[in-house]
Amino acid sequence: MPSLPLALRPLRPLTKLRLGADVTAVFFGGKLRGLPPAVLREAGAHLRRAGFKGEANETHAVPLSGRPPRTLFVVGVGKELTTEIFRRGVAAAVQHAKAEGARTVTVILHSPFSILLSPVAVGRAFAEGALLANYRFTAYKAERAKREHALRLTRVELLVPRGLVPDAERGVRRGTLEAEATMLARDLVNEPSSRMTPAALVEQAKRIAAASRGAIALTILNRKQCEARGMGAFLAVAKGSAEEPAFIHLVYRPAGTGRRAVARHQASSPKPQARVVLVGKGITFDSGGLSIKPAEGMETMKIDMAGAAAVLGAFSVLARLQAHAEVHGMIAACENMPSGSALKPGDIVRTVLGKTIEVLNTDAEGRLTLADTLGEAVKVQPAAIIDLATLTGACMVALGEEIAGLWSNDDRLSASLTAAAEAAGEPLWPLPLFREYGARMKSEVADLKNISGRKYGGAITAALFLKEFVGETPWAHVDIAGPSYAEKQTNPLNPVGGTGFGVRTLLHYLEGLGA
Ligand code: BES
Ligand code: ZN
Ligand code: ZN
Repeated sequence: MPSLPLALRPLRPLTKLRLGADVTAVFFGGKLRGLPPAVLREAGAHLRRAGFKGEANETHAVPLSGRPPRTLFVVGVGKELTTEIFRRGVAAAVQHAKAEGARTVTVILHSPFSILLSPVAVGRAFAEGALLANYRFTAYKAERAKREHALRLTRVELLVPRGLVPDAERGVRRGTLEAEATMLARDLVNEPSSRMTPAALVEQAKRIAAASRGAIALTILNRKQCEARGMGAFLAVAKGSAEEPAFIHLVYRPAGTGRRAVARHQASSPKPQARVVLVGKGITFDSGGLSIKPAEGMETMKIDMAGAAAVLGAFSVLARLQAHAEVHGMIAACENMPSGSALKPGDIVRTVLGKTIEVLNTDAEGRLTLADTLGEAVKVQPAAIIDLATLTGACMVALGEEIAGLWSNDDRLSASLTAAAEAAGEPLWPLPLFREYGARMKSEVADLKNISGRKYGGAITAALFLKEFVGETPWAHVDIAGPSYAEKQTNPLNPVGGTGFGVRTLLHYLEGLGA
């Protein structure tokens, strides 16, 4: 993973301000400010000629005269600068710099903008914007080293008023970890399914546990062990593939609450803490199975483990972020393939908690593996379960490529997840668990069937199906089929490919727990 050096420095008085970087980014709320008079004159005239209005997220690159040639990158803020506009502005400046082959970028945040935002949030957004925009998946590129070198930024710095530096620095450290976690998720999604197999996900989980210095425990269940536990739905999906399935269970415990530590302090029982299960859909390739997908629909189906990738990404930094909650991660990892041993339409499978499912379409496989995973999640008696899944094309029809769907049986959980997503800049929109549609998932011959048999409302009926497996446990389902993968670049933070969507929302959510 190419790392990009970030720096934070106090903003110097205007008379001493030199625009030395190849690209200098500034924010524009109605007029240009906080720059040397000569620059203001030159750039101001340029912006007027170009018809720059300064609407939110509108950007314009102004070439500055002089040697060496430099660029002033102006980011409009519209009515008011928000953390998200700042984050996207930093990202857009970095994208611009990369496209121009620039080596250094300086972002200036002066008052009044600097006092409207929390300095921690500024540092965090700066690190996220810069690092995530700089990301590229280059593992399979010819002349990889050369290309990378040509595109390498050597330094991105942020200038803020001196008093804000310490808090902003804390934000940069946190944002850097969050970006790293997101980039890990991107790497896992971008890796082709021939390599990113269930076994490879297991390897990744092992690496994460090993790096946590005992904070994360890992249990792997193989096919036989899953069978013994009664995970009939998960194994039914797996059985068409030559790849061995695996059930991954990670447990992060905050420092001082591990088994040994608890035994030591038995007299003073450990503080009760929030326990949360994060569930990720882990289909490493979704061909559809015997209900096979058309070629166009199959092209991107290596991304069908993006939920698992987000969970693993989050786990990769939990120990370093010193999260306060007990966090479980559960992933049923397998491939969905057609073959002589594949699951067939009409088959009936039994899930871990006993409910049976009539499988009418083998391409609705995510909900089958999730049914068993949610059952396992319920067993650990958590305060909340959150699942992330590239579950339905219907959710993309409803919300487009950039917004994830959110369903929950618990208003508080839904509110805190929405707030976390808002702070993270990952758009999430609530959709209903409309009870009346639930009847569509009842089967004549089993407890449930895995498709509604109707043309419309597929994202909602999928959520209603999952709801059958969580009982009374507070639960939220996030359908990330759209935003987990950027087919084209729209958001400057997300280069084409896996986006790592969900990682930062999960980390923001966990930050708010048990602290
Ligand atoms: N993995 C797909 C959903 C998907 C589609 C994710 C596009 C990302 C992009 C899922 O397993 C699936 O095939 N869903 C079907 C459900 C249908 C058979 C009820 C779908 O959405 O068409
Ligand atoms: Zn499918
Ligand atoms: Zn799928």
